[in-house]
Amino acid sequence: MGDPLRRRVLITGAGGQLGAALSRAFAADDLQALTRDGWDVRFPAPASVARPDLVLHAAAWTNVDGAEDDPQGAAEVNVGGTAHAAELGAPLVAYSTDYVFGGRKGSPYVESDGPSPLSAYGRTKLHGEAVAGEHAWIVRSSWLFGPSGHNFVRTMLRAGAERDEVAVVDDQRGCPTYVGHLAAATHELVGSAAPFGVWHLAAGGDCTWADFAEAIFELARLDCRVRRISTSEFGARAPRPAVSILRSEKGAPELPHWRDGLAECLAALAPA
Ligand SMILES: NC(=O)c1ccc[n+]([C@@H]2O[C@H](COP(=O)([O-])OP(=O)(O)OC[C@H]3O[C@@H](n4cnc5c(N)ncnc54)[C@H](OP(=O)(O)O)[C@@H]3O)[C@@H](O)[C@H]2O)c1
Repeated sequence: MGDPLRRRVLITGAGGQLGAALSRAFAADDLQALTRDGWDVRFPAPASVARPDLVLHAAAWTNVDGAEDDPQGAAEVNVGGTAHAAELGAPLVAYSTDYVFGGRKGSPYVESDGPSPLSAYGRTKLHGEAVAGEHAWIVRSSWLFGPSGHNFVRTMLRAGAERDEVAVVDDQRGCPTYVGHLAAATHELVGSAAPFGVWHLAAGGDCTWADFAEAIFELARLDCRVRRISTSEFGARAPRPAVSILRSEKGAPELPHWRDGLAECLAALAPA
């Protein structure tokens, strides 16, 4: 039985990289952190889910290229799952993405900019925003990385240890965001008087994937060159926005620069 005096916080997708960071940032609360085994969000919440005071909905289909082949499957999680999280009736944080934007604005995207997703993944996330309900903070972030799970930093650390050179896309620009910083900013947002609605929470600074890879190799002291290639050379299945830098026009909590996030991530990965 939980402590009746503490806020009851439910985290979905607790096995993912953001879910793990949220479990740490909200550790002082009465936490129910559920992996897919505890709640497959394609279905309504099981009876074992305690009535929460706050839901942090981090479960999602995040395989951007895979969503092109199975958009229905992605929608079941990203739209159906968000609707089920909203049905709990508690204030909800629904995470969304820079991939709801088309990438052709030429300057950073703010909350009032109109979305126009290029990919099936982006479309399912945008539909997910629409079903989050009236009592939701829709938190858009971008290019997430952390010490666990599948992410660009971990992929580059593996590649950089095995190879002399990696080819990395240099014509997509965004804000690589450390999950620890996003979790802390989420904590700040929900603890403030911030009204429900769309909020952009992404790292300070911006770069291309190739810039990011070079910074990873430099900080991790890996002797690996970055060969800068174009999106079309890379040939990913799903189209992605060219420039999807997120900024807030609403005074959202500010996150540290992506280089600080990278340093924290590498420190968390280093053997003790
Ligand atoms: N990753 C990014 O670059 C990025 C960028 C912007 C926004 N976001 C958004 O940020 C949020 C968190 O992303 P993340 O990077 O932490 O993703 P992640 O590491 O892939 O974690 C997502 C979690 O959701 C779980 N999940 C998938 N289908 C589920 C289902 N049907 N029921 C319950 N759980 C399910 C996954 O479990 P399994 O491991 O079992 O599949 C995984 O643990 C998502 O809303 C994502 O769209 C991510």
